[in-house]
Amino acid sequence: MTALETRALLNQLEAAVGANLDRHLASAEAWMPHEYVPWSEGRNFTALGGEPWSVEQSKLSPIARTALEVNLLTEDNLPSYHAELGRTFGREGAWGVWVNQWTAEEGRHASCIRDYLLVTRGVDPEELERARMATLQAGFDAGGKPLLHACAYVSFQELATRVSHRNTGRYSGDPIAEKLLTRIAMDENLHMIFYRNLVKAALEIAPSRTLQAITDEVTGFVMPGSVIPGFARKAAQIANAGIYDLRIHHDDVIMPLLRHWRIFEAGGLDAEGERARQDLAEALGTLDARAARFVERRAEAEAVRRAGRRG
Ligand SMILES: [Fe+2]
Ligand SMILES: [Fe+2]
Repeated sequence: MTALETRALLNQLEAAVGANLDRHLASAEAWMPHEYVPWSEGRNFTALGGEPWSVEQSKLSPIARTALEVNLLTEDNLPSYHAELGRTFGREGAWGVWVNQWTAEEGRHASCIRDYLLVTRGVDPEELERARMATLQAGFDAGGKPLLHACAYVSFQELATRVSHRNTGRYSGDPIAEKLLTRIAMDENLHMIFYRNLVKAALEIAPSRTLQAITDEVTGFVMPGSVIPGFARKAAQIANAGIYDLRIHHDDVIMPLLRHWRIFEAGGLDAEGERARQDLAEALGTLDARAARFVERRAEAEAVRRAGRRG
């Protein structure tokens, strides 16, 4: 897409951005992150005369620790996401207001998950800090996504983070963590709705191009946390625990959005748009089959583990 075409599209979408910004501001709650942290559990670490961290202090299981840490480090990389959105959406008008509003809301997420984890001694604070440094040093580079691709990506990404926070909260076994992550997931849901509505508006303005962007983002989707040290190993543990796996990605993230956008009923497509839709259908078939294989293999491995425990 040329710079001129992007400019025209930004202008065409501006009314939808304005209307959705108003809707968002009316429905977003100004919640207070400090209310979600059990401060009375906190105590000093070594440098202030307290105890160093050790694993038995954590009430969380190893996988719950990993999931919370991955969610936190993903949120920590906000400076990169802010820079990416500013570059793609610009700083002017309703687009610019949205970028700053979104950034301010996202800023709560890392700070209260970190407060929770430090106060409860949920994770190793030194390892966490080293991982935070490495994550921000790596940064997040969306690779110069064009406008429509960026809108499709963030729709999927916000829904993926909502599901991931919600399921991590449930898995944690700590009602305080669950309450906190449920609250954060509500923010992610509102963010998802904002972007989902923009994509809906884009489908009316430029159906074929938007469909192409959606197809590209479904086939090339990468979690924003992919730059976290050891991400592949951690993501595999999170998938094995059923917190976020391919089945969930297909059923709870990709498909609900495609259904909402009525992708397979949309008219007005040119030849390229039709081809993109066929590619999308194929990609969904592949993803669904991979998800089925993953679930099968996980069940088999679980059965072997159970048999081993009995034997
Ligand atoms: Fe967030
Ligand atoms: Fe979000």
